[in-house]
Amino acid sequence: MSQDIYLTGITTTGTPHIGNYVGAIRPGIEASKDRGKKNFYFLADLHALAKNEDPENISRSTLEIAAAWMALGLDSEHAIFYRQSDIPEIPQLTWILSSMTAKGLMNRAHSYKAAVQVNVDSGSKDPDKGITMALYSYPILMAADILMFKATKVPVGRDQKQHVEMARDVAQRFNHHYGDVLVLPEPVIDDNTAVLSGLDGRKMSKSYNNAIPVFAPEKQLRKLIMKIKTNSLEPGEPKNTADSTLFDIFKAFANDAETNAIAKRYAEGIAWGEMKQILFEYINDHITPARDKYERLTGDPAIVEAELRKGAARAREIAVPYLEEIRDAIGIRRLG
Ligand code: TRP
Repeated sequence: MSQDIYLTGITTTGTPHIGNYVGAIRPGIEASKDRGKKNFYFLADLHALAKNEDPENISRSTLEIAAAWMALGLDSEHAIFYRQSDIPEIPQLTWILSSMTAKGLMNRAHSYKAAVQVNVDSGSKDPDKGITMALYSYPILMAADILMFKATKVPVGRDQKQHVEMARDVAQRFNHHYGDVLVLPEPVIDDNTAVLSGLDGRKMSKSYNNAIPVFAPEKQLRKLIMKIKTNSLEPGEPKNTADSTLFDIFKAFANDAETNAIAKRYAEGIAWGEMKQILFEYINDHITPARDKYERLTGDPAIVEAELRKGAARAREIAVPYLEEIRDAIGIRRLG
């Protein structure tokens, strides 16, 4: 059995928030240090285009996300960390895979169906109104990301599981037609990583406008934490940890002993104001060293750029010869 290859992409929209940190960045960074694993991490900036982001937004988000991963300790000597658009072999493979992708398969993509549903619900005459080919073909670009590096394991959130399964379907069809060239990937969904709630108690998400950026400056961090929704129980009244956003966030950062100590304070009726102060101080202490580094990196984007280019060069050492093999298999080859 050959070694598993892990690969995951991060779409470059928005500023990383603590929900991203707990759900994807922290486990990804842990895994990047595991010498027994081969890991690829990349910034999916071409995918960001499918969301019609504006240019400033994409470029700023690329810088912020890359700087965040670097500041939080990604081991980029061991793991390969790059930007999707630096690998021209990926869009080329996307086109090749398009020729092996049934249109009907793309019709079934949840994200596309959801966009159609919005149009239907709003009574639009055209169910495809405002839907670009980039949104429609999004899963094929994602398949190319994965198949380009022979990834066998793809850690993703539950919402991306179908896309990885589609990549597998496309690879299977390709292999059936052209021989055993592509490696079949499978999704890895970790149900143990916490899904954090945001300021209003709904899932923390950029689109709900309820997120706490990982590297919010101290003052802003305090302000946001003070805004987290609580119930109206008074100081001294026992409180439930089960439906408390403050508790969930604390737990996602603290160790078991610290979490148990806070649970005890809940039972004793800690005041919400005090709990907010405790949470603020805890996160602030936890994040401050990385925040300093993050601020240095975002203040000097050339350092981040150099790191991404280094990663792209390593990635292309793999992608370039492999694409040659794929091209040869499909008959796009030198004539003599
Ligand atoms: N679509 C993924 C998301 O929105 C990001 C992504 C792009 C990705 N390419 C990928 C994830 C390849 C895993 C593998 O989260």
